[in-house]
Amino acid sequence: MTDRLRATGRELRAPSFAVSAAAAACVAVAALSAATAAQAAEELTLYTTREPALIQPLISAFSAQSKVEVKTVFVKDGLLERVKAEGARSPADVLMTVDVGNLLDLVEGGVTQPVQSAALESAIPANLRGADGQWFALSMRARVLYADKGLPITNFRYEDLADPKWKGKVCIRAGQHPYNTALVASLIAHDGEAKTEQWLRGVKANLARKATGGDRDVARDILGGICDIGLANSYYVGQMKSSKEGTDARKWGDAIKVIRPTFANSKSGGTHVNISGAAVAKSAPNQANAVKLLEFLVSEPAQSLYAQANYEYPVRKGVALDPIIGQTIGELKVDPLPLTEIAKYRKQASVLVDKVGFDK
Ligand SMILES: [Fe+2]
Repeated sequence: MTDRLRATGRELRAPSFAVSAAAAACVAVAALSAATAAQAAEELTLYTTREPALIQPLISAFSAQSKVEVKTVFVKDGLLERVKAEGARSPADVLMTVDVGNLLDLVEGGVTQPVQSAALESAIPANLRGADGQWFALSMRARVLYADKGLPITNFRYEDLADPKWKGKVCIRAGQHPYNTALVASLIAHDGEAKTEQWLRGVKANLARKATGGDRDVARDILGGICDIGLANSYYVGQMKSSKEGTDARKWGDAIKVIRPTFANSKSGGTHVNISGAAVAKSAPNQANAVKLLEFLVSEPAQSLYAQANYEYPVRKGVALDPIIGQTIGELKVDPLPLTEIAKYRKQASVLVDKVGFDK
């Protein structure tokens, strides 16, 4: 201990022989906590529900650039409950998850804090972040149409999925999955509840099989001749089409073409997107580093990594898409309705899905 004290400098030379041992001990404790605080300033703890493999390249790039060491804690389920239970003693600095609903749950659960950052505000469009800086989108994924590549179809509206001409030809995962409840919520925002209920009944009547499985199963079942069309997320297209030649995933990806749907009533021609995003934790012990990480994640190089490693759409303008996404789906025109507006309807959406027995 003496050596460490000596190393910290001037105040340690000050105590004379007249200073009591107790006073010297106080100085020692103060010096040590200053040293610990200095060390802690170069760390941060990230709680994430995203697969560690997906975000590790981003985190490594951040640490290399900032010299901030990131402790990543993968929280598969119950992120909000965990941070709530930890309370003011939570080590979490950044909370990262997917789906705007999950981000809003964190805000409403009181485990986030507002952040003001010119870098975040200029990089992220206003409809992709909380008005008070309580959450920020870091990447986007579009809910797109997978179609048998032989089908002569060039444009599509979400409402068309209920058209009886697709009877027995539609595949989709469970209506209660967050990817679909967010879409149903956006239909309520565009078309109202009554029309959306009709739509759900129409889509249900068109199903080729039970609404179940995952997004990639839509491509699998198109290849298998079970269905012709279905809705699924955009990044799976990149994953499947970049899979090794001869693998199942590659065959599924090669069986489909992709169309960016729009909404019938919308002049904008925008497509429904959801996000991955993050918030600074309310009790963040390393608040400044937490903001630094978020700012890094929307910087040009990090946004490029999101595009290339994960086949996601960057939130920052002017960042190149992954070539496969660029060729098969193309530049994204985002539905301009704010995500917070859409998210207001997610409970209603979930109730409607049950009401029409969509998943039965
Ligand atoms: Fe997914």
